[in-house]
Amino acid sequence: VAQAHSLGLLLALLLPVVSTSLPGTVVRLNEAVLSYVSEIGKAPLQQALQVTVPYFLDWNGEVYQPTRIQILDIHVPQFDLKFIADFGVRMLVAANFTFQVFRVPEPLELTLPVVLLADARVAQGSIRTPVVSISACFPLFSSAVVFEGSGSVAPGLLVPVQKHIEAVLRNKLCLSLSNLVQGLNVHLGTLIGLNPVGPESQIRYSMINAPNITKDYISLDIDAILLLLGKPIVLPVEATHFVLPAHVGADGTMVTVGLSQDLFDSALLLLQKAGALNLDITGLLKSENNLLNTSMLGQLIPEVARQFPEPMPVALKVRLGTTPVATLRTNNATIQLQPFVEVQAVASNSAFQSLFSFDVVVNLSLQLSMSKAKLQGTTSVLGDIQLTVASSNVGFIDTNQVRPLTDALFQKPLLDHLNALLGMGIALPNVVNLHYVNPKVFVCEGYVVISSGLLYQR
Ligand SMILES: *[C@@H]1O[C@H](CO)[C@@H](O)[C@H](O)[C@H]1NC(C)=O
Ligand SMILES: *[C@@H]1O[C@H](CO)[C@@H](O)[C@H](O)[C@H]1NC(C)=O
Ligand SMILES: *[C@@H]1O[C@H](CO)[C@@H](O)[C@H](O)[C@H]1NC(C)=O
Ligand SMILES: *[C@@H]1O[C@H](CO)[C@@H](O)[C@H](O)[C@H]1NC(C)=O
Ligand SMILES: *[C@@H]1O[C@H](CO)[C@@H](O)[C@H](O)[C@H]1NC(C)=O
Repeated sequence: VAQAHSLGLLLALLLPVVSTSLPGTVVRLNEAVLSYVSEIGKAPLQQALQVTVPYFLDWNGEVYQPTRIQILDIHVPQFDLKFIADFGVRMLVAANFTFQVFRVPEPLELTLPVVLLADARVAQGSIRTPVVSISACFPLFSSAVVFEGSGSVAPGLLVPVQKHIEAVLRNKLCLSLSNLVQGLNVHLGTLIGLNPVGPESQIRYSMINAPNITKDYISLDIDAILLLLGKPIVLPVEATHFVLPAHVGADGTMVTVGLSQDLFDSALLLLQKAGALNLDITGLLKSENNLLNTSMLGQLIPEVARQFPEPMPVALKVRLGTTPVATLRTNNATIQLQPFVEVQAVASNSAFQSLFSFDVVVNLSLQLSMSKAKLQGTTSVLGDIQLTVASSNVGFIDTNQVRPLTDALFQKPLLDHLNALLGMGIALPNVVNLHYVNPKVFVCEGYVVISSGLLYQR
């Protein structure tokens, strides 16, 4: 019994009741991304195909003469990519290789048209990033075309030279393509890098499962872990699996990113846990536009005037004990905050004396926008701020009487503070050197969609 008991205890310690990872993000790469990849991929592809060709042994009737062959130029007139459902991407590369064969007495120049067909599987790697691998690759060769200025070529030479070149390219081109794709994987691996969310807090994304691939897109289920001082925060509830509907956001964009309500709630939880939402508003004496002093308050609350015949500065301590709640409705995002505000007099020896406190409920409208790879927010107050006196050391307080004062004193600093914080933004899933361009943000029922182009830039 004792053993069973300690085993239970051990399990209870080992198994977290709730999780730290949040499956609340979907990144969908649409067809338009393929055209972009083929556009920016041509140059690196051309470079990768630049292989070395070993010497050709030319039989001159008596001896074999080693003849050097060099690629003068690779022209890629066609590079097509398309999605293959449940698999990955099929590519077709049409390339014209121009070779120089250094035979005596004069070099021979020839062009060999090659079509390279390859299938690239897109899967989930061991570090939970996307991994691309070449699973099938065939070069198809056409007849070499001899450059006109090359003079007459014995047909006895052209055929063996072409065979020699083809034998070399057959192996090397596919290997080059695999190497190119390996480089791409290094890039994709940076998906799991840490990105800041707020002060001392970060977010880390990774893939949850194998990508879903259709003939129109590749969709990645992404997990987020939110870290505070390097430690993952524990989420209060198990997040539900987020499914991004098929046709959302703008048509024809390269990438569609879906962020669930859970992700927003968790980011707010992180900011709250970090204490980043708390704020102190402190009045200074003898400053022109500062209403925060006991003589001012004393005009509204007689007991304050009685206790503080000499004017003293007043401080508002704004604390968020409860996590803000985000609500996402079609074209309408709001946040509800419930701060606890303590009003204190600051005595000459810097000791604080609590005057009274109140519970606040404030609804904020949230405008979302993207800057760099970050989703930023700006808030403004929706409707009235609700005040309820929680405690008082200065007798009865008429909330209607202090409302104008608190509205004026509290609202602007709170919004400034929140907007500075939300302006830091939450990074979307990203990889190094690939930037979101012309992103558009859509607020939908229970989630947010970002439709964006991509730009590769070192
Ligand atoms: C090079 O490629 C283009 C386009 O595929 C083709 O029309 C042309 O004939 C090729 N040139 C040679 C010399 O083979
Ligand atoms: C991928 O497919 C699975 C099973 O069909 C589904 O549960 C999941 O939501 C899909 N994910 C995405 C990102 O479409
Ligand atoms: C207290 O606040 C009022 C209103 O802003 C101001 O007129 C007055 O000068 C302040 N008193 C001191 C001592 O700062
Ligand atoms: C958003 O919803 C809130 C209530 O949830 C409402 O007060 C506000 O007017 C709405 N804003 C817009 C732009 O529809
Ligand atoms: C905030 O919004 C909620 C939901 O729309 C509403 O029930 C509540 O009355 C609002 N509170 C304030 C203080 O405006």
